[in-house]
Amino acid sequence: RKPVSLPRLAEMRERGEKITMLTAYDATFAAVADAAGVECILVGDSLGMVCQGLSSTTGVTLETMCYHTESVVRGLRRVQGTAWVIGDLPFGSYHESKEQALRSAADLLRAGAHMVKLEGGGWTAETVRFLVERGIPVCAHLGLTPQTVHALGGYRVQGRGDAAALQLRRHALELQDAGAGMLVLEMVPALLSAEITTELQTCHTIGIGAGKGTAGQVLVMHDMLGINLGKNPKFVRNFMEGQSSVRDAMAAYVRAVKDGSFPDDSLHAW
Ligand code: KIV
Ligand code: NA
Repeated sequence: RKPVSLPRLAEMRERGEKITMLTAYDATFAAVADAAGVECILVGDSLGMVCQGLSSTTGVTLETMCYHTESVVRGLRRVQGTAWVIGDLPFGSYHESKEQALRSAADLLRAGAHMVKLEGGGWTAETVRFLVERGIPVCAHLGLTPQTVHALGGYRVQGRGDAAALQLRRHALELQDAGAGMLVLEMVPALLSAEITTELQTCHTIGIGAGKGTAGQVLVMHDMLGINLGKNPKFVRNFMEGQSSVRDAMAAYVRAVKDGSFPDDSLHAW
């Protein structure tokens, strides 16, 4: 197998093949996800919640993100994995200035990430452009952005209503313009995320709780394995059901995303 790259992801999009992404935080699970055919591994700052037991992602540090990224990348190297690795820039590591964002992104690349992810629209476009111009692939993240959960008033659907939808579409276009290669859309109405997907050509949308109209899907690994400590979000499916191994569960996820059976409409109340 050839390594997953941005051109390969663009080819997949062109022929209508859905892109699959899962989070992983350590060597073994990253290797298993890769073997199951997952194209993109996100070392998400959700590790603050699932690995560190924090109540939100706001307390995760860049040092912790680098530690987990290194582990994931070592695991992939061990098995000659091909996955595209995205490292999350944690809260506070890119907010001060473009220069700070570049330093933080460089740390994640040094840890082995191929791409960095940051949350938010509007002010982030300038930062994205700065990183992309300097050769760092960037994934953006709109809709429910967990790093700003306190400002959003909880983990709830975003982009509802005409004004909010318009702003989300505008932010998505600005981020594509700035050079973002991917865009996570989290907890966004299915119709809106499908519209944004059609509007974007060079930036591939990856949905989570955003319906099936996106170019790809992502889930937090612990959620799709049915080992979430809290309440499972409504958009999650437990892929361990009917499977006898983690690898089979991940392979079932890949199949379901590719054949369009995940997500299904009943998983969305919005
Ligand atoms: O940190 C994370 O796991 C994420 C995904 C939910 C997109 O950002
Ligand atoms: Na994240």
